Amino acid sequence: MHALFRTLLASALALLAAGPLQAQADATKPEGANPPAGFVAPAEPRPDESQAQRTKSQPGNNAPFWRGVRESGQQPGLSNLPGAEQGVLIQPFVQYPGSRLTNAGEAWRQVRNRWIIPYGGALVLITALALAIFYWRRGPMGGHIPDTGRVVERFTPFERSAHWANAGAFSILAISGLVMAFGKFFLLPVIGATLFGWLTYGLKNLHNFAGPVFAVSLVIVILTFVRDNLPAAGDLKWLLRFGGLFGKEEIPSPRFNAAEKLVFWAGVFVLGGVVVGSGLYMDKLLPGMDYLRTDMQVAHMIHASAALLMVAMFLGHIYLGTLGTRGALAGMRTGYVDEAWGDEHHKLWIEDIRAGRVPAQRSTEPRPAHLTTAGGTR
Ligand code: HEM
Repeated sequence: MHALFRTLLASALALLAAGPLQAQADATKPEGANPPAGFVAPAEPRPDESQAQRTKSQPGNNAPFWRGVRESGQQPGLSNLPGAEQGVLIQPFVQYPGSRLTNAGEAWRQVRNRWIIPYGGALVLITALALAIFYWRRGPMGGHIPDTGRVVERFTPFERSAHWANAGAFSILAISGLVMAFGKFFLLPVIGATLFGWLTYGLKNLHNFAGPVFAVSLVIVILTFVRDNLPAAGDLKWLLRFGGLFGKEEIPSPRFNAAEKLVFWAGVFVLGGVVVGSGLYMDKLLPGMDYLRTDMQVAHMIHASAALLMVAMFLGHIYLGTLGTRGALAGMRTGYVDEAWGDEHHKLWIEDIRAGRVPAQRSTEPRPAHLTTAGGTR
């Protein structure tokens, strides 16, 4: 099953890479080599670029030497690489069902550079721009009902700790991941190759260690918030009317509205699970796996695509939790919101509290003194 899944996925990715590869195939001939029939030459370096020029534009590039290593024979040699591919210094050519003989490492590189980086980058930028325009035109939501001075507990200390541990790890992962993927375009020209090299080296290690922290806190967040994110009657109606975003008032919602539930299931549960699973695989933390190069490449493509989708989704979450909604951040920071905040953003929840169906205070910790009197939370 595992092997079948791997083959199907790899074939799909090979087909994806085949387009851009084929376009270059006729124009580019590998230097001084007799490639196997069906070999698709790398799209880069450009055919008009000599090795001398290439060494200048890509310091450290020693393509002819490594091509020689690969073509000196596909027999096992001596390398200190542990695991199933011990002795294999250079990834061999592969042929996926339905596609020609190809260089899998190059196919992976093409998919990364020609699909994931440009489209993923565009998605993140467009999302950030859309949120900025929304904020500019609309400003923060809420704050129309005056505070009552009566506060209710929205998040217990445990819920807040789980949320912030997870959000902290996510922020480290997102920033380090974005620098690793896109820093070459916006940081390298500013800070230079040496500093950029050390920075990405440091961030890559930080990324590897923040990953497991994110994984553990993600499971805790899912278990903590799952109950109030279960679908309820009225969620569809809320979604179809965009929660009242374009009207005067928000559509009444329970503790979490349908958009929050969508982020919970699609962003936290599904994308979070995929990013964590593929990340732990690349960290070689999953037991009983071979960690072959091709599998690592597939894991990388899944990880990068899901992570960029997740970043775009969580830009929306972070916007709504900070600039976009008055008083929301205070709720997650202090644990308390004014009843008026509940009336504006989660009317069904506050009605449940008033009717005694949901306790106004769930934790046993004493409420901070400044929140027991009038003064509000916004
Ligand atoms: C990094 C910056 C983040 C900020 C500033 C932030 C802010 C907030 C705020 C203010 C709330 C309360 C919303 C309300 O009262 O309805 C909230 C809720 C929540 N956040 Fe975050 N958050 C961040 C990151 C994350 C991350 C990375 C995750 C998970 C991957 C996450 C998962 C949740 C969940 C599960 C809730 C409860 C609402 C629900 O279940 O739909 N947050 N966040």
